[in-house]
Amino acid sequence: MRALAFAVLRELSHERFVSGQALGERLGVSRSAISQALKEVAAQHVRIFSLSRRGYRLAEPLELLEVENIHRELGDRAHRLDIEVLDEVASTNTLLLQRMAHGLPSGKCLVAELQTGGRGRRGRSWQSVLGGSLTFSLLWRFDRGAAALGGVSLLTGLAVVRAMHTLGIPDVGVKWPNDVVARGKKLAGILIETQGDMLGPTAAVMGVGINVRLPEALQSAIDQPIIDVQSLLLRPVSRHALLAAVLREWVGLLDRFTQGGFALIREEWLACNVLQHQPILVRQGDGTSFEAVAVGIASDGALMVEVEGRTVLLNSAEISVRPAES
Ligand code: BTN
Repeated sequence: MRALAFAVLRELSHERFVSGQALGERLGVSRSAISQALKEVAAQHVRIFSLSRRGYRLAEPLELLEVENIHRELGDRAHRLDIEVLDEVASTNTLLLQRMAHGLPSGKCLVAELQTGGRGRRGRSWQSVLGGSLTFSLLWRFDRGAAALGGVSLLTGLAVVRAMHTLGIPDVGVKWPNDVVARGKKLAGILIETQGDMLGPTAAVMGVGINVRLPEALQSAIDQPIIDVQSLLLRPVSRHALLAAVLREWVGLLDRFTQGGFALIREEWLACNVLQHQPILVRQGDGTSFEAVAVGIASDGALMVEVEGRTVLLNSAEISVRPAES
C-alpha cells in the first residue's frame, strides 16, 4: 500500500464522515488520487462506508499503532526498548536480521502495521491483516552459546500467554515449541532466528504474529485451524495494550533467562502447556510421525515425551506436535 493510502487511512474515522474533497485538501492531492488510495485501503480488508455528498467513514473502529501510545502503555519498561513502527514491510524478522548485521544492541523492536511477506516456521508463510493483527520482532543479544538458546522460543510463547492473562483473555496456553493456542486453535505464532556460534556470544531475532481480529475471508484462507483474540473476548481489545503487555512480559522473562537460563521459567511454562500429560502425535521433518505422551520439558527447552515406556527428548526445528486423535 502506498504512503498516500496510509495517510488517507489515518484521516478516516469510525465516528464521522469525511468528504473526498476535504481529504484531497488536507493531503494536497486530487480527488482521483484519493479515490485510488481508498481502493488500496479497501483491498486490505478495511471496510469503508461511502455516502454521496457526505464522503467516507470506517465501518469499524481501527486503531493504528503509534510509538508514543506503546511507550505510555509500557510505563517503566519503555526505556529498555527502541521501538519503531513501520507502515509496511515484507517481514519484520527479515528486516531486523538485515539491520542486526550493523551492530544494533538488544531491545530494537520493529512493528509492522502491514506485513506482506510474513514468514513462519518450517518454510510456511504467516498471514496478517492491516489493523487486525500484531506483527513484530525483537532483537536480543546473549552471552550464551547458540545451544542454550532453545529456551528463548519457549519463553517468548510464555510472554504472549502472560500478556493475554493480564488482559483477561481466557483459555490461552502454549504448545511446544512456540505456538500460542486457545480452544485447540492457533492464536499466535513465533519465529526465532539466531546468529552466533556454539560458545557465544549470540543474537536472536524473535518474531511474533498475533491474530487480533481477522476477517472471515482471511481465516478461511489459512490452511490450519486458527482463532483470534476478538473471538475470545466480548469487549474490543486495544492492540497498543496487547503489544505493550507482551513486550513488558518478554523483557522480564529475557532478564530471568539471562540470569539463570530456561530452568528458571520451566515450571511456569509447563503450567501453561496445553499438551502436558496428553497423548500427542509427533511429526518429524521427513514426514514420518509417531505417537507419544508429553511428559515434560528439559532445561534446554527440548520436549520430553514417553514412547513405549522410554523417555525421549525432542529438539529439532523440524518437529511439530499435536494432540493424538482420541
Ligand atoms: C509460525 O507459527 O510458523 C511462526 C509465525 C511467525 C510470524 C511472525 S510475524 C512477525 C515476524 N515476521 C515474520 O516474517 N514472521 C514473524
